[in-house]
Amino acid sequence: MRHPVTKAVIPAAGLGTRFLPATKALPKEMLPVVDKPAIQYVVEEAVRAGIRDVLFVTGRNKNALENHFDRATELEMILRRKGDEAKLLRVAESTDLANVHYVRQGDPKGLGHAVLRSKAHVGGDSFAVLLGDDIIDSRDPLLERMLEVHDQRDTCVVALMEVDTDQAHLYGIATVDATEEEDVVRVRGLVEKPEPGTAPSNLAIVGRYVLKPEIYPVLEQTAPGRGGEIQLTDALLTMADHHAQGGLHGVVFRGRRYDTGDRLDYIKANVQLAVEREDLGPGLRAWLKEFVGTFGD
Ligand code: G1P
Repeated sequence: MRHPVTKAVIPAAGLGTRFLPATKALPKEMLPVVDKPAIQYVVEEAVRAGIRDVLFVTGRNKNALENHFDRATELEMILRRKGDEAKLLRVAESTDLANVHYVRQGDPKGLGHAVLRSKAHVGGDSFAVLLGDDIIDSRDPLLERMLEVHDQRDTCVVALMEVDTDQAHLYGIATVDATEEEDVVRVRGLVEKPEPGTAPSNLAIVGRYVLKPEIYPVLEQTAPGRGGEIQLTDALLTMADHHAQGGLHGVVFRGRRYDTGDRLDYIKANVQLAVEREDLGPGLRAWLKEFVGTFGD
């Protein structure tokens, strides 16, 4: 299906301090999940949804990220000389994936500020935002569905997932009204990272957004919120009230999502994705069964 969304914005300016010392010299987006940098899964997801223009909003220390999506001429030459076609393909897949652009965030003033930095590149079209900490299983289309809802309803769209109540303080939390479509809700309220025990629901924003360009003037007017940062969630709440501009809808996602945002979830994501792989899965499954048996109770 054709849709007008051709650009994706991927904020990648975070310091990744939860993963120190691994992220001292390496951007956290480049940490491998199995054998591929986390960020490549996210770009692949955008491409699967038909979006090939990708803008990274980066900070300092992001050379490895730029190199990853660029040609690696010397490495390719060596592999070609060896006739190692399989590895050559592995090297080239990230280069040929998308048309990649970069803008620096400058001051680290929050997710809303990072998205605002994409304004000159995106211009007057709707666009997608994908956060690198979330990997969505390639078998469970989410962004495609969000683009569909955006097209049909001419609205901004966020991805929502039910989370455990004790996790709600880590997310933007939505209050919603049902629509006639089972997986689509109208967003009525949003609160960024509510204090533990105060979340108005357990529907959390996961890191996928389809935004109309009207979000830019709203972001420009959005005052610093939670943590003193300009919060995308706060700007989205304003959009939710702009009924004339289609308001804000949520797609409730019930598929497989792997969180790579903190160390425990990152380790789980590696195991979950590796057991699914044809090359690694059988060996890992067999070993896991045996290993788990050594734990006792
Ligand atoms: C951001 C958003 C939050 C959202 C989350 C999803 O927070 O501010 O609303 O729920 O991403 O991963 P972060 O995790 O970057 O602190």
